[in-house]
Amino acid sequence: MSSSLVTVAYLASAVLFILALGGLSTNDTARRGNLFGIIGMIIAVAVTIAAFVTRHFEWLVALMIVGGVIGFILARRVQMTQMPELVAILHSLVGLAAVLIGFATFLDASVEYVGVEETIHEIEIYIGVAIGALTFTGSVVAYGKLSGIIGGQPMMLPARHWLNLAIFIAVIVIGVQFVGESDHQQATVLLLAMTALALVFGVHMVAAIGGADMPVVISMLNSYSGWAAAATGFMLSNDLLIVTGALVGSSGAILSYIMCRAMNRHFISVIAGGFGTSGGSSAGPSIEGKVQAIDTPIMVDLLNNAKDVMIVPGYGMATAQAQHAVADITRALIKKGVKVRFGIHPVAGRMPGHMNVLLAEAKVPYDIVFEMDEINGDFPEVDVSIVVGANDTVNPLAQEDTDSPIAGMPVLEVWKGQTTVVLKRGMAAGYAGVDNPLFVKENTRMLFGDARDSLEALSQAL
Ligand code: TAP
Repeated sequence: MSSSLVTVAYLASAVLFILALGGLSTNDTARRGNLFGIIGMIIAVAVTIAAFVTRHFEWLVALMIVGGVIGFILARRVQMTQMPELVAILHSLVGLAAVLIGFATFLDASVEYVGVEETIHEIEIYIGVAIGALTFTGSVVAYGKLSGIIGGQPMMLPARHWLNLAIFIAVIVIGVQFVGESDHQQATVLLLAMTALALVFGVHMVAAIGGADMPVVISMLNSYSGWAAAATGFMLSNDLLIVTGALVGSSGAILSYIMCRAMNRHFISVIAGGFGTSGGSSAGPSIEGKVQAIDTPIMVDLLNNAKDVMIVPGYGMATAQAQHAVADITRALIKKGVKVRFGIHPVAGRMPGHMNVLLAEAKVPYDIVFEMDEINGDFPEVDVSIVVGANDTVNPLAQEDTDSPIAGMPVLEVWKGQTTVVLKRGMAAGYAGVDNPLFVKENTRMLFGDARDSLEALSQAL
């Protein structure tokens, strides 16, 4: 295949990837965006194979089939609630690929580099392996935290910031030695030493982050995986991989920034494991007050007398798969002439946009779904707020307890409405492990049970 044809095909793929990102920015265009991404990737893979693979073609095809089948089975089986874990583990594979390709490129004796070219090549390898290694272990720990295998509490080692700093300095010092080392065997040992340090750093960085800050970490690892891919592109001298990696890296960085702003966190303090914060880990003051449980008929009465209803979904809606029941209730209320709106917290659920995806799947009209910033001031005029499996994102302690892991995080102020009904199974805490005084407020009623069962019963009664 001629090199100009490869360039044109790569350019087309890069444009399709940019269109894909643009499409994914709104619900209406997301499907089209996905399609652009798929077409771009098919062109990229096909052209790369046709242009560059000269040997062991049978191995490549066999491994692609194995990988494709595993991916297909995983994608079919994975529940919507497991998507964040799946994304985390996929990020880890990008990191691992960068490490392996970095070592393979370094150990490959078939290409000789000299002078400045050699230095640049070694720096590319070193940076690529470093980002890849910390992305790999960081993503594995994130997977553990998101799937519940590892607890959500932050691991607060004494002098943890000094540990991070020491690792960072050691990586730079080893890097300088690595680039100046003429003995290939010695240089390999140095590369291995740095890899070990980066692997430890990845574990420590994510383990030190508290449950409530995980959204930032997920988008940050997304960004790292992009930069790892870009570094791999440099090592392999593949322009499309550089461009694609940079697109993923920068969009992940923008998402991390948006998440930080939404949670009122400083980016640096989150990536350095709570640096500059109190590292609050208190479960909050023990909650005093009476829990007022209600049943379906009382809830029906409340809704029959309401003119303005706000629905606030959270992770419990995803686990209960209650989005269709939520949509049914919405339709029933709108039919009765009730004004129904949705208030979505930016970190509700377990991945960015989690609630929006579920509501879109259940065909809830987009124009009644509002972001927290747009809707938070409206609660005082709401008659009934229905909290469907949300907890941390509606916890007033975020505003009241400065030592809480969620301190300073903006929350949906549901308690300012006339009545709040919380649908959950028991009194369990949310992801951040913090008790919630909302549940004992004067104007809060608890409708205990699986959110889907409660809503289906309610839907029938309405
Ligand atoms: P959470 O605080 O996680 O609370 C979910 C609540 O749902 C739980 O208290 C649970 O209480 C209830 N629940 C679980 N299954 C249920 C079911 N079948 N029926 C009814 N209720 C059920 O949810 P949230 O308010 O959405 O907050 C999200 C949290 O996750 C934040 O701390 C956020 O920082 C963190 N996080 C977010 C992300 C992203 S990117 N969105 C990523 C990682 C972490 P019961 O067990 O008592 O029912």
